[in-house]
Amino acid sequence: MIDLHCHLLPGIDDGPLSLEVSLAMARQAVDDGIVFTACTPHIYPGLYENTRAGIEAAVLEFRRELAAAGIPLQLGVGADVHLAPELAGAVRAGRVPTLCGSRYLLLEPPHHVAPPRFAESVFGLMTAGLVPVITHPERLTWIENHYAVFGDLVKQGAWMQLTAGSLTGRFGRRPQYWAERMLDEGLVHILATDSHHCDKRPPLLAEGREAAARRLGAAEAEHLVETRPQAILDDLPPAAVPPLPDVGAPKKAGKPGFWHRLFGNP
Ligand SMILES: [Fe+2]
Repeated sequence: MIDLHCHLLPGIDDGPLSLEVSLAMARQAVDDGIVFTACTPHIYPGLYENTRAGIEAAVLEFRRELAAAGIPLQLGVGADVHLAPELAGAVRAGRVPTLCGSRYLLLEPPHHVAPPRFAESVFGLMTAGLVPVITHPERLTWIENHYAVFGDLVKQGAWMQLTAGSLTGRFGRRPQYWAERMLDEGLVHILATDSHHCDKRPPLLAEGREAAARRLGAAEAEHLVETRPQAILDDLPPAAVPPLPDVGAPKKAGKPGFWHRLFGNP
């Protein structure tokens, strides 16, 4: 399996603070069946001022540590890029990395507030030749009142990345509901771990693949963790990648009736 969203590098963001924890996470990933991990620390203006050059240097150093420790995990360079003004220019100028040098950009929307003109910002990145891969929409607290926008973005060519642990309930019932709904509606391109540590947010992908296989079958589950991530590494155009599953007509977009009946307005 290929994990394209992981905070694996030590001391560079809110991921592991020490090399020992990073190495332990890498061992967990290998034991889980992950062969390739993109190191994607946050780039968040004013909070995590990482740059492509800094991340590349940290990946080189961590590769040496993995080799010395005998851990067979391949690493790539990327970033968990917070949505910010002038992003396309920063990518073009080489300050912000895409996923492993491809046209695919891991894009993190704000967690708690729907950004103004969110769809327009994503479209703007596409106009610049990038394919935004939206990180964990299922965990955004504002998804409930803006669900339709994610379907619209997918239709326009954006990709969606679910966190594997959302499908298994690691983040609670609310993200699990949205993760399953997006999966069932054929709106999800890839799964990733978004791991930050060994325990609370471990680098485990197989459990997500299995949960997805139970809903959509083994072939689509493989697309989520292998085929489409590999296509990103190969920088294939989206038209050359296995399409999203045809799951029939989507449920009525908008308010989640099931969720509201169960829990009210969270
Ligand atoms: Fe992340």
